[in-house]
Formats: sequence, C-alpha cells, structure tokens
Amino acid sequence: STNIYQLTEEQLAVRDAAREFAQELWAGVIERDDHQKFPTEQVKKMGELGFMGMMVSPEYGGSGLDTVSYVLAMEEISKVDASCSVIMSVNNSLVCWGLEHYGTEEQKQKYLPRLCSGEIIGAFALSEPEAGSDATSQRTTAEDMGDHYLLNGTKNWITNGTTASVYLVIAQTNPELKSRGINVLIVDKDMPGFIQGPKENKLGIRGSDTCSLMFTDVKVPKENRIGADGFGFKFAMQVLAGGRIGIAAQALGIASGSLELSLKYAKERKAFGVEIAKHQAIQFKLADMATNVDAARMLCLQAAADKDNHDDYAKSGAMAKLFASKVAMDSAVEAVQIHGGYGFVKEYHVERFMRDAKITQIYEGTSEIQKIVISREILK
Ligand code: CAA
Ligand code: FAD
Repeated sequence: STNIYQLTEEQLAVRDAAREFAQELWAGVIERDDHQKFPTEQVKKMGELGFMGMMVSPEYGGSGLDTVSYVLAMEEISKVDASCSVIMSVNNSLVCWGLEHYGTEEQKQKYLPRLCSGEIIGAFALSEPEAGSDATSQRTTAEDMGDHYLLNGTKNWITNGTTASVYLVIAQTNPELKSRGINVLIVDKDMPGFIQGPKENKLGIRGSDTCSLMFTDVKVPKENRIGADGFGFKFAMQVLAGGRIGIAAQALGIASGSLELSLKYAKERKAFGVEIAKHQAIQFKLADMATNVDAARMLCLQAAADKDNHDDYAKSGAMAKLFASKVAMDSAVEAVQIHGGYGFVKEYHVERFMRDAKITQIYEGTSEIQKIVISREILK
C-alpha cells in the first residue's frame, strides 16, 4: 500500500534485516520463557548486528539510525520474542539515549561503545517498592558528600537487573526541593554496597530478568552524575518520553505477531468442512486485528517521526503506547481464541504473546499514567 510515511530505502533495509534476524529467535524461545532463561547469545548477536545502540552516533560505536528505524526493528523483534525486545528497548532508548544526550564526553566514551556492541548491558532504575507511578516520591537517597554521593535505598522491578553492568540510578539528594532535588547517577555493578535481589517469577517477558537493587552506603563519585545537580527527575521524564515509543513498538510487534500467526492458522485449521478462515466470525476478528495493528503502527511512526524532527513527542509517544498496548492485549487474546485449544498450549506461541502483552500496559508508565500525560498536554 502507499508508503504514507515515505519510509526510506535505508529504513526499509533496517526493517528487513531485523525481520531476518528475528527468525533466529524462534529457536529456544519456548524454553527460555519456560525456564526464565536470559537470551545471552541472542543479545550478543543483536549487539553485533547494531540493534543494541541503534540511535547512537557511530562516533560512539552506534548505528547512527533514526527513531523510525528503531521502531521498525523493535516491531520485528517483538513479533517473535518480546523478552529480547525489552532488553533492547531499555538499552537503546533509556540507557544509551540518556547517556548520549546528557552525559559528559568522558561518560559517553567510557560506556557507549560497549553498550552498543552488546559487550555490556545497561539498566535504568527509577521505580521503588513504594514509588512507581508516583515517581517523584523517591525514597532512595544520594547524599552529597563533597567529592562523592552516598547512595542508600532500594529500587524495584529493574529490567536487566542481574545481567547489566551499568545502571542509571535515580535518587533523592534534596528532599525539600521535591522533583528538583533528584539526581541520576551512573552506578557500576561492582561498586561495594550494591547488591541485586533474586529474579522475579513473572507472568510474561520471562526471558528478561527483573529484580530489585539494594544500595547500602554505595560511594558514587561525583563525576558519575549525569547533568547538573537536581536534573535527575527531568532526565527520567525525558528518557521515558522516548522510551515509551520503544515500548509502543514492542506492543505493536506483539499485536502484529499475533495477527500473522492467526492468519496462517485460520487458513490451515478446518472445522465444519472448511478452513476456519471461511467462517465470518473468524474473518471479523482478523479484520479488527488488522485494522488495530495498522492504526497502532501509524501512531508509533508518528511519535518516532516527531522525535526525529525535534517536535514535541511526549504526547504522541504516550498516545502510541496507550493505544498499541491495548491493541497488543486485545490481539493476543483473540489470537488464542482463533487457535482454540491449540492456542492454550505453548507450541503455538500465542499464549506467550498473551502473557507478554500485559506488561506493555504497565511498565514505562501504566495506561492510566499515559492518560495523565496526554490529558495534561491537550489541556495546556
Ligand atoms: N520532560 C521534561 N520534564 C518533565 C516531563 C517531560 N516529559 N514531564 C514532567 N517533567 C517535569 C515537570 O516539568 C516538573 O518540573 P518542574 O517542577 O521543574 O516544573 C517535574 O518534571 C515534575 O513533574 P510533575 O509535577 O508533572 O510530576 P508528577 O508528580 O505530577 O508526575 C508523572 C508526573 C507523569 C505522573 C510521572 O511521575 C510519571 O511519568 N510516572 C510514571 C513513571 C514511569 O513511567 N516509570 C517507568 C519506570 S522505567 C520502566 O518501566 C522501564 C521498563 O519497564 C522497561
Ligand atoms: P502503582 O503506581 O502502585 O499503580 C497501581 C495502579 O494504580 C495502576 O493501575 C496505576 O495505573 C494506578 N494509578 C496510580 N496512580 C494513579 C493516578 N494518579 N491516577 C490513576 N491511576 C493511578 N521500573 C524501572 O524503573 N526500571 C525498569 O527497568 C523497570 N522494569 C520493569 C519490568 C517489569 C517486568 C515490571 C513489572 C515493572 C518494571 N518497572 C521498571 C516498574 C514499572 O515501571 C512500574 O511497575 C510502573 O511504573 C507502575 O508502578 P507500580 O508498580 O508501583 O504501580
């Protein structure tokens, strides 16, 4: 159909490369999900292919691509394995993007090349046991000790929690300044006083590792702070605005993957003497899924284009995530229905898509939080 976004040859080539690579992810995906096995080899390969630092400048070892290309690649990888794509999303849009845009030259040189190559993985730590949606009420403290910060507290639900080597940790330095007293610090895994909790046993994205982080009197040198004193909350909001586009694309991929498997199955499976695709009830489900997937893709590409064109993307990114995550959930549920009893067992993948879809309505801001962001923007 008409290329309304006028995707360039390069963008289409990135999509095709991601699609081709994603086929490799089918192997072992059920086992990784079953055993909560981290996709170590797959992430290494993603690094080699340039998918771990897609938007980073080649100067720092990145692929130097735009957000549209990133969205296209995220969709393709998420069509097969959303555990791999969340690892990719956090590394790309939170960690690398945050470091490249706000880090010092030394910080960029020290971390970006290895983050882009897949040699090391990054994590982003904002949420706490008692501060999720209400992200300004940080309890983790980074006390200013002159030449270093003393970090104390607990972070919860951290993606790449045990596998990361570098963590961007948000913490409160001046509580009386509320959100303006928060800092973001680069914490290395081997800093004394820093430990990771056990892996959470999750409903979905079970291949990605999620855990809590505990900091007890961790001495973080001042040069590990990103941005000016008190910039931490703004930093978090800025990286999340872009991160939400990545998660929207992940949701889109889960939805389009559900649709693709359903189309194939509906043409193979027979009931009452015909392929089930000949029953109008099934056709209508497929029509709804296809319409929603296209609409979700348009919102994702719109948000990505806004970011690439330096237009405001907080609203369009939130809209893309809000809508695509609902489409992911609905499409995956319908995919299971179309597969009947076969949909309920692991071999057909759609039950995994249904479990994986749910997280896209929760992390990087719940759907309710996206509505807060959108309504504030439109009521301005
Ligand atoms: N860009 C820059 N600054 C922003 C901003 C943005 N997009 N949004 C807000 N800010 C600034 C505000 O301007 C304000 O600054 P000033 O005081 O200097 O004016 C400051 O941040 C505080 O903003 P609010 O008063 O709006 O704060 P709030 O308490 O009302 O909360 C919120 C706003 C949007 C609800 C925010 O708390 C939020 O986004 N919550 C959800 C948290 C979240 O998304 N967590 C995700 C964790 S990471 C993750 O989940 C990764 C993963 O799974 C893979
Ligand atoms: P709460 O904030 O307690 O919300 C509970 C419910 O109340 C939700 O439905 C919420 O939408 C609703 N609610 C809250 N406030 C309002 C309001 N004002 N209006 C209407 N409804 C409201 N965090 C990180 O920092 N880094 C990560 O890498 C990361 N990875 C994650 C991976 C997984 C698998 C999971 C499960 C979470 C991850 N998170 C991460 C945390 C995630 O971002 C939070 O779980 C999320 O932001 C919601 O916070 P909460 O769990 O504390 O829920």
